[in-house]
Amino acid sequence: MSVQAINKARNADWAPGTWRARPARHIPDDYPDPDALAAAEAELSGYPPLVFAGEVRTLRARLAAVADGEAFLLQGGDCAESFKEFHPNNIRDTFRVLLQMAVALTFGAGAPVVKVGRIAGQFAKPRSAPTETRDGVTLPSYRGDNINGMEFDFASRTPDPQRLLKSYGQAAATLNLIRAFARGGYASLSNVHQWNLEFVAGDRQSDRYRALADKISEALTFMRACGVTGEKVASLRETDFFTSHEALLLGFEEAMTRVDSTTGRWYDTSAHMIWIGDRTRQPDGAHVEFCRGVENPIGVKCGPSLDPEELLRLLDILDPENEAGRIVLIARFGADKVADGLPKLLRAVAREGRTVVWSSDPMHGNTIKTDTGVKTRRVDAVLKEVDEFFSICRGEGAYPGGVHFEMTGQNVTECLGGSDEVKESDLNSRYHTHCDPRLNASQALELAFILANRLKARA
Ligand code: PEP
Ligand code: CO
Repeated sequence: MSVQAINKARNADWAPGTWRARPARHIPDDYPDPDALAAAEAELSGYPPLVFAGEVRTLRARLAAVADGEAFLLQGGDCAESFKEFHPNNIRDTFRVLLQMAVALTFGAGAPVVKVGRIAGQFAKPRSAPTETRDGVTLPSYRGDNINGMEFDFASRTPDPQRLLKSYGQAAATLNLIRAFARGGYASLSNVHQWNLEFVAGDRQSDRYRALADKISEALTFMRACGVTGEKVASLRETDFFTSHEALLLGFEEAMTRVDSTTGRWYDTSAHMIWIGDRTRQPDGAHVEFCRGVENPIGVKCGPSLDPEELLRLLDILDPENEAGRIVLIARFGADKVADGLPKLLRAVAREGRTVVWSSDPMHGNTIKTDTGVKTRRVDAVLKEVDEFFSICRGEGAYPGGVHFEMTGQNVTECLGGSDEVKESDLNSRYHTHCDPRLNASQALELAFILANRLKARA
């Protein structure tokens, strides 16, 4: 039998559409014209892949190194991308803050940092309530720009299949720019000073970053004198940057799923990595069914309601062969719940000899509302959760392999605190998120420096 035939037999009971027979949470069922939805999905299935199987395999190999404790995962970006915020400057700014954070972390960890953006496809959102009421008017909730619009009127809130095609276009253009940044010279370490953002200039993080960039420049000068240059060593002149999003809207994911001709295996070509949200990880549900059949690395959000037996069941379904680099478990408990919830999961995974990457999402368990009803997060709580995550993992003999942030390169005021001290009264001034509050560039960089110090203390 050929490799392709063996691989086909391995997953004989799976196809990109088998999820449709399973209970599916958080997928809209109120498209006014189901035929128009089917037509949009059919059209998408003929579009070029956004990412390639070989790139996905590279990411899996990088994540296998993280699982081995030899590298660190940095995943971050918008809670929800939007059509409105789609602009080359925004993409560039998020990209460069991630590069800056990665530089700080590489220095701290003394190990490679695997960079994965929540970008180029992070549109669909699970919402806590299906409807929203304002001044006595009730409408369907906003579900992300690839489904409906944020404006509070009936037409905007009605799901529109054309949004799938528009979000594909935005993802393709975003990815195109990211590939150019990553490979075309911008991400060359010799540009390390230029990644500093103008608006951060003058604040403490900018000074810290400049000091670090000076050290790197000095090291590069020394290496150049020794004959080690960007012309000879690719990793000095370019970087690997991967994309990811929550695999929530399965019709879109199905349409982007293709067989890789060299291996005969299925890849979801909408992003390098996809993840299953905390609200859609039912073992017999549609999202788990879809994800089990594709070869991409799969993230699983692990929140307070996940019990260890269920986690093991999920791992059996999603990663029956226990392959390093396949699974990233993303703990998102909240600063005051992580000590209670995480150890039992770590123990169950260790007991079963499971190889996974453990990462910390210190955002989603720490969302609060101010007295005036604004959704926000405290940088202190974010930091506390990551800190606890690190010490709990180490206490249990597991490797704390990564972090997962909601952040932006923009100078927003959505999260409270940080060395610039965003206060409650500042929240309204630059609050632009389409969903959850994001760390701004300065807050994100500050966290990276603090984490780098933690990593260094242990190196
Ligand atoms: C998210 O990552 O935006 C999200 C909705 O997270 P969670 O599934 O962990 O709540
Ligand atoms: Co979010």
